[in-house]
Amino acid sequence: MNSRQRFQKVLQGEQVGRPPVWIMRQAGRYLPEYRELREKEGSFKTLYRNPDLAAEVLMQPIRRFALDAAILFSDILVIPEAMGVNVEFQEGGPILERRIETSADVKTLQNGKVRKALAFTNLSLQASRRLLGKEHALIGFSGAPYTLASYMVEGGAASRTSRLKRMLYEKPQVLKELLQRISDEVLDYLLMQTENEIDAVQIFDTWAGDLNSYAYQEFVVPYTRPILQALRAKNIKTIYFVNGCAALLPFMDEINSDVLAIDWRLSMDTALHILQTQNPQVKTLQGNLDPLELFASAEHIQKRVRQIHAQLNGHPYVMNLGHGILPQTPISGVETFIKEVMALS
Ligand code: CP3
Repeated sequence: MNSRQRFQKVLQGEQVGRPPVWIMRQAGRYLPEYRELREKEGSFKTLYRNPDLAAEVLMQPIRRFALDAAILFSDILVIPEAMGVNVEFQEGGPILERRIETSADVKTLQNGKVRKALAFTNLSLQASRRLLGKEHALIGFSGAPYTLASYMVEGGAASRTSRLKRMLYEKPQVLKELLQRISDEVLDYLLMQTENEIDAVQIFDTWAGDLNSYAYQEFVVPYTRPILQALRAKNIKTIYFVNGCAALLPFMDEINSDVLAIDWRLSMDTALHILQTQNPQVKTLQGNLDPLELFASAEHIQKRVRQIHAQLNGHPYVMNLGHGILPQTPISGVETFIKEVMALS
């Protein structure tokens, strides 16, 4: 069984012995070869907008580690860009050139431009599949509507005085108008990605964990579920990730994904238990070592990999971190992690 077959089987809910493994943000700054290429080419944006460079970056972690899957090298903020809001990636995080505050602001956003503005994504996926070969899984992705709205309303990463949540309660109709616009674009973007040889798409709903169950059902589910449903109709497997999912897990069955990615806070056996009370047919899971644990001793990492595997107790899952890998992560921690996964059965 090659890596791709192992990944596909698990996404279909089959048991495969050791789980397939990949790492959120596996291509990036913790790798010296990434830092070197970015330095040479100038910026992150140059890398992801150039299909050959994006494919090269995607391959860097695959060459180093026994990973089973590679993920498109891009960013979730290409959607705001395609809607007419420029994004700058700075050391402190991304900055958007303007904030969306009113219904008039929403109306200035462009719709229907994704295919043209993000055509480089298709070329990147094609170049990536060429370099990757047929024996590894290839994953496409997008940000989810609520998480993208968060960046567009805040103008960057959310702050403590969250403008987005004030808008949610003060001007719910404006937020819903924005979410609908974004949802249409995300669907177009993901359908475009499925025209390439990919094995799954992951939807990143990083900021949805900030909501209570009322707001999740009102502002997340209606704008995300139709995207997952349309992908299901195209027979493409979907992975759905919320950072801080514990309190919302009882509502996530409604999202209609094939896989639920569990963040690092919740233990996998607890996640399984909560999901089982909703629906005895629990989906495939993904996760969930804390990215910070890769800084720990080899003994700690080995113990925790075996513990996560034991918590799943034969339930199909994809091994991963419970959020993206940090730029300061020691490569030796990643090596230990992957080696220990290879030793599972
Ligand atoms: O996983 C992968 O290897 C694929 C590529 C990928 C990137 N970003 C590359 C990236 C993916 C899937 C993302 C998703 C993403 N981007 C999310 C959702 C996942 C999550 O982490 O919660 C979010 C919220 C973003 C927005 C974003 N992009 C932030 C907050 C930042 C700054 C923080 C940081 O790590 O620098 C980025 C920049 C970014 N995205 C980099 C990379 C490799 C760093 C670019 C660089 O400086 O070279």
